Amino acid sequence: MRIVTAVAPVNIATIKYWGKRDDDLILPLNDSFSATLSLEDMCAKTTVMISPYLLENKFWLNGKEENMDNPRLSNCLKALKDRLNKENSEEVSSWKIHICSENNFPTAAGLASSAAGYACLVYALASLYQVDGDITAIARNGSGSACRSIFGGWVRWHKGSLEDGTDSIATQIFPTDHWPEIRVLVLVVNDSRKKYSSTLGMKQTVMTSELLKHRTKFVVPDRIEKIIDAVHKKDFQSFAKLTMKDSNQFHAVCCDTYPPCFYMNDVSHAIIDMVHVYNEFKGQLKIAYTFDAGPNACLFIQESDLSEVLSLIRYVFPSNLNANEYYRGIALDKDLFSKDLSLPTGITQYGLNTLRYIIHTKIGDGPRLLQDAKEHLLDSNGLPK
Ligand code: DP6
Repeated sequence: MRIVTAVAPVNIATIKYWGKRDDDLILPLNDSFSATLSLEDMCAKTTVMISPYLLENKFWLNGKEENMDNPRLSNCLKALKDRLNKENSEEVSSWKIHICSENNFPTAAGLASSAAGYACLVYALASLYQVDGDITAIARNGSGSACRSIFGGWVRWHKGSLEDGTDSIATQIFPTDHWPEIRVLVLVVNDSRKKYSSTLGMKQTVMTSELLKHRTKFVVPDRIEKIIDAVHKKDFQSFAKLTMKDSNQFHAVCCDTYPPCFYMNDVSHAIIDMVHVYNEFKGQLKIAYTFDAGPNACLFIQESDLSEVLSLIRYVFPSNLNANEYYRGIALDKDLFSKDLSLPTGITQYGLNTLRYIIHTKIGDGPRLLQDAKEHLLDSNGLPK
């Protein structure tokens, strides 16, 4: 019997992936660039177990048994088994597998849970089957953005040009500690609409959007180089502008899709407005926003501005929650809040609890194994604990 447990992080793209050139192999139309967020505040956790005594393959996700027939899951499993070290007996690959996975952050946060989930699964399986070498191309088979969660720090997913997709991999461009002053605030917004999946949304975009063609050919290649240069120099002004412009172009492309797909809502727009009014008032870019396929915002700021930015958000989006519920993630000093916050005149204040809560986090490491047997999500019979 073999059992392995791993945790893997969420990543947030500052230059977005949107659109595939091959739907089956999950090959993107453009490169993308992301920051990996700290495992301490948000992560997926997965236990995988193989044994000659297990009778069938089974999979539990967030406490619910799911179907193993999912093609993305079977593709990841097959790709790893194909790479099984020859010293491992043939036998091991025929043993049945149990997989148990959960996210430590509420699904309501709507943040790349599939990216963290598939990165975690592939990382745990690679350890279980003792597979060496690149595993980002395998994680990509689960969910495109998952390949970027295989590394910590600042990561680039190269679109590649080979038909079989073997060169469509992610690489770490800068390590976790490269720019330690960066802080990330995830603003979780209330949203009752049904989630429209990224996979379907981007497929529709590829079929119908002219703007996407312009974006992938003329905009992204240059932006990728520029953002890497900005992060290299720790140039927050350039980084912030490129990040916001790319988020806006991604949503413009969604709007150019026919029928259009809208992921942001009125609160998302209110956040964008707050950021621009505040940046303008300060005479420089202090906050950068980026939005994925949902209404929640991810803000990048520098640590020295944390106090003032948190006070600003609480002013603009008042809440009657106590501080422990409103601020999650990295603990805040009690006296952190800016006593004499100077606000732009006429800044709009929204209704109570328009924002649900804020996760305060930073750039973090890639996946890791948890060695302590207490951490396993499966018991010795292969059932969820
Ligand atoms: C908006 O990776 O979820 O978050 O490859 O179809 O599984 P599939 O899509 P997915 O798309 C993520 C899109 C995005 C932007 C990004 O993370 O780059």
